[in-house]
Amino acid sequence: LFGHVEPAPKDPILGVTEAFLADPSPDKVNVGVGAYRDDNGQPVVLDCVREAERRIAGTLNMEYLPMGGSIKMINESLKLAYGEDSELIKDKRIAAVQSLSGTGACRLFADFQRRFLPDSQIYIPTPTWSNHHNIWRDAQVPQRTFTYYHPETRGLDFAGLMDDIKNAPNGSFFLLHACAHNPTGVDPTEEQWREISYQFKVKNHFPFFDMAYQGFASGDPERDAKAIRIFLEDGHQIGCAQSYAKNMGLYGQRAGCLSIVCEDEMQAVAVKSQLQQIARPMYSNPPVHGALIVSIILNDPELKSLWLKEVKGMADRIIGMRKALKENLEQLGSTLPWDHITNQIGMFCYSGMTPEQVDRLTNEYHIYMTRNGRISMAGVTTGNVAYLANAIHEVTKT
Ligand code: LMR
Repeated sequence: LFGHVEPAPKDPILGVTEAFLADPSPDKVNVGVGAYRDDNGQPVVLDCVREAERRIAGTLNMEYLPMGGSIKMINESLKLAYGEDSELIKDKRIAAVQSLSGTGACRLFADFQRRFLPDSQIYIPTPTWSNHHNIWRDAQVPQRTFTYYHPETRGLDFAGLMDDIKNAPNGSFFLLHACAHNPTGVDPTEEQWREISYQFKVKNHFPFFDMAYQGFASGDPERDAKAIRIFLEDGHQIGCAQSYAKNMGLYGQRAGCLSIVCEDEMQAVAVKSQLQQIARPMYSNPPVHGALIVSIILNDPELKSLWLKEVKGMADRIIGMRKALKENLEQLGSTLPWDHITNQIGMFCYSGMTPEQVDRLTNEYHIYMTRNGRISMAGVTTGNVAYLANAIHEVTKT
């Protein structure tokens, strides 16, 4: 019956973790998956999360959430993305549901797009998080790509980006990373976001923001929502996928939110009901525990300020590791330019290493990372940075 089923190819990101776990070497280093580690290389549970869990303990029943998830968690999420005083929230113009983290939010949106705008396509940046392609492919939404990154400058190809926005048919759907672009660590400046927003208005494009790293770019979630706020100021209807995997460290809890700005409250009610109907046959309703943690933290001023401090702490440790990696490479006498390690932001460094160089890192040094040359800076520690720098120097020197 299943004889024709071939093994699926390994996932380019999660497959790296599998290979890392299978390697018995004591030297092994995992800078593949984007998951925060402390300076001992250990996963972190934030103090604000521990405190929220302490408050939940013994009080939680195991009832189903509604199909659209926790209303409290959704309301807190909207304030975080759209701003405490957002008129859109007051006017109830946002259709929002709790999602299975950022991936689930993107997938729900993609399915919604396919169902209600069947002739539309999605423009995806080159490069992007590999799973974006899978998500819109499985939702059967045709994909186009747009220019984003400039390999020579290792920065933004702003001219190419603007050309592609201008050349796309009016009313196109674009996937944008709200901050801390994955995998490149390259974001437009505020001024560039304003120009992008203006051009979107001219072309009547729809921006769908994936905001998986709110807080990881600048250390301040409010500042990291700037791109979204600029688009809102300009009166766009937007879509937004939020994830609490990285900024609250709730990776396995699958806590997130999908929101879509509508023209009025009636439309928002209709859109939300349709999102729920898409969720129902897929997973019925989302999990309760992570949602409760999020709503407790964001709803309590004391816990929220602890959270903000802890997000900044994570972002700062990564910035420190960027400096250390660059300094180590320079001390080793590498003559290649490494400024992009400290210029890029968020969790990743898009190193510019080739797939063959990455293969050497893995085969000769037990260093695991994605073959596109992305280094998850969250996996770099004071204990492994010298080893990592030396290995990078060895495989990149000519
Ligand atoms: C990553 O890019 O490494 C993370 O977003 C984890 C994942 O699910 O791919």
